[in-house]
Amino acid sequence: MKVRDAVLGLKAYHAGKPISEVKRELGITDIIKLASNENPLGCSPKVTKAIKDISDKVNLYPDASNFELKKALSEYLNVPADMLFCGTGSDLLIRVICSMVLNPGDESIMGEVSFQRYEDSTQLFGGKSIKIPMKNHGLDLEKMVDAITDRTKIIWICTPNNPTGPIVYKDELEKALKRIPKDVLVVMDEAYHEYVEDERYPQTIPMIKDHKNMIVLRTFSKAYGLAGLRTGYGIADKEVTAYINSIIGPFDTNLIAQVAGVAALKDQEFIKRVVELNSKGRKYMYKECSRLGLEYIETQSNFIMINTGMDDKVVSDALLRKGVIIRPGSLFGMDGWLRVTIGTMEQNERFIKELEAIVKNK
Ligand SMILES: Cc1ncc(COP(=O)(O)O)c(C=O)c1O
Repeated sequence: MKVRDAVLGLKAYHAGKPISEVKRELGITDIIKLASNENPLGCSPKVTKAIKDISDKVNLYPDASNFELKKALSEYLNVPADMLFCGTGSDLLIRVICSMVLNPGDESIMGEVSFQRYEDSTQLFGGKSIKIPMKNHGLDLEKMVDAITDRTKIIWICTPNNPTGPIVYKDELEKALKRIPKDVLVVMDEAYHEYVEDERYPQTIPMIKDHKNMIVLRTFSKAYGLAGLRTGYGIADKEVTAYINSIIGPFDTNLIAQVAGVAALKDQEFIKRVVELNSKGRKYMYKECSRLGLEYIETQSNFIMINTGMDDKVVSDALLRKGVIIRPGSLFGMDGWLRVTIGTMEQNERFIKELEAIVKNK
């Protein structure tokens, strides 16, 4: 077999450790996972019911057109269905977008500390990732736009940015859009947009009308609590959408995910509860980090970066042995930091208690 060079260079993605793996490896049972920005409240009970109701229909292929899910999204977002595409998580959609525009040697621009899958997917299609240093831990949009060349095909705007947490402001984005050539795709990855409280966060979907090179990516994995079902969606100009839909496989959004997505959109009360809990958790984390004298990055998301001033792998291993799974910052190039998902108040308190014991003993 002759594997393509691009594949040979691919790096493994280090996902958050599953609870079952920690149980197996360490033989402990009381474990909390604050490592993958999952929803600590689970999903809406309305979704659970919809899943149960459809569970005896899994012998059937899902609707290849995603008719019901697109209809529900179209009503919820107030956009026509021909501007919508769905897929197996926004992770797949990132890959699909790369496959649509990248030829070997083409460039895609991203923040130096941003979602790793932009780099992986760029590499897969022989593209080159141009990583722009962060500004106050957020994306430096001006410098990202400065880096555009005639080989640039995509600029990835992750907002809130994973793993750091800040957003891109409306005025910054508007300024950037004026400078970005029309043939460069502007991908707004809004996986965590439900958690944003800052009023300077731009409403990007209406901008697509004037910026046909803009794609907005969203997911049911975070606030909706459906990470295990793998459902993401995107909004783009209808011509862009048609190309994307021509690449996505006919059955990439499974039957259960389609039904769950429709039910999830109907329960906005659940989202309100999720966002309120997260907001309370964020404030608690800020207060406790200040009390412990630990630097942190203010976040608009459901995770927070905390600087322990210690070897982050040592700290995360020590937390793991106490049954708390988090992500060491060195995975993202931020040595000494931890990325911690904001959990239930009980989980947040347990994390802080264990962290306090570790940092006090250093
Ligand atoms: C910024 C960002 N984009 C996209 C994704 C992919 O999400 P999913 O494939 O579950 O929709 C994630 C997951 O962590 C993320 O953090």
